[in-house]
Amino acid sequence: MIHRPRRLRRSHSLRRLVQETELRPSDLVMPLFVIEGKNHCEPIPSMPGIDRFSSDLILKKCEELLELGILGVALFPVIPDSKKDSYASASHQNEGLYQTTIRSLKESLPEMIVISDTAMDPYSTDGHDGLLLHQTHPKKDSVEIVNDESLEILAKMAISQAQAGADIIAPSDMMDGRIGFIRAALDQAGFSHIALMSYTVKYASSFYAPFRDALGSAPRLGDKKTYQMNPCNIREAIREAQLDISEGSDMLLVKPGLAYLDVLREIRANSSIPVGAYNVSGEYAMLRAASQSGWLDYQNAVCEVLHSFKRAGADFILSYHAHEAARWLSEE
Ligand code: PBG
Repeated sequence: MIHRPRRLRRSHSLRRLVQETELRPSDLVMPLFVIEGKNHCEPIPSMPGIDRFSSDLILKKCEELLELGILGVALFPVIPDSKKDSYASASHQNEGLYQTTIRSLKESLPEMIVISDTAMDPYSTDGHDGLLLHQTHPKKDSVEIVNDESLEILAKMAISQAQAGADIIAPSDMMDGRIGFIRAALDQAGFSHIALMSYTVKYASSFYAPFRDALGSAPRLGDKKTYQMNPCNIREAIREAQLDISEGSDMLLVKPGLAYLDVLREIRANSSIPVGAYNVSGEYAMLRAASQSGWLDYQNAVCEVLHSFKRAGADFILSYHAHEAARWLSEE
């Protein structure tokens, strides 16, 4: 036998020498859930190890993350039901929970990249990412989320996030034309220097369930299939990416991650702007649950998953494992 690939697998050092992908803390973005209050933290039952934090604790958490080399956080607000309405009015108030948190974080830790989420669901009594048309016919199989009216609200939200100091505005709503609309609104408001990261390929996925628990944002009526993508499609993903690039998106995101590595690879191959993967809440919960039952080794499984995103072509990874993974990397 001439060819024996095992020759290069004989020792840890040899394996390390020929390793093709490398995971660095700076590849990772940590999603964080913000709640009202002071010195307040609440566990999320379906995401063991992940808590909701009040702004002051978010700050502490970010100090630890920076120390480990994680340079970005994606913030998501937990809004009490009493502050929700069908127009998501609380989403664009200068003194809102989200805006004040971003402001205090950027004041104390300007080097931490803040990625803000632009979508109506955390603030909406309907739990949808856009505006629900309330005359929706009860017998129709889906609720109607109106597109163009939603854009106006999203643009206001994006501007208030930019005013608060967000570095990257990330529309996660999947309305048509939102990148172009929000880009124009930001430019007009004096924020032409603020980047847009489009959730360009966001599938209507069952893997978001723990996130909706964390935020209390599950849709009250219907599902999100008229705006989020059909998990069976990939050509449509390329179309979404082309549209977002032409509308001025600076970065793209594929979500969820694990069941969509083929999509990530295809988007990477078809675009020259940075592409990230969102390793979502349900993917986090799966590894936690299996390891809690003693069915797999948590650390090894997480490292394997995170490397798989890099191998598939991700430039960066949003993951609830980010903090732990950075800790392991620092111990290596
Ligand atoms: C909605 C949004 C969702 C997530 C982030 N933003 C899910 C949804 O469509 O309800 C999910 C993230 C995760 O599961 O970790 N704007």
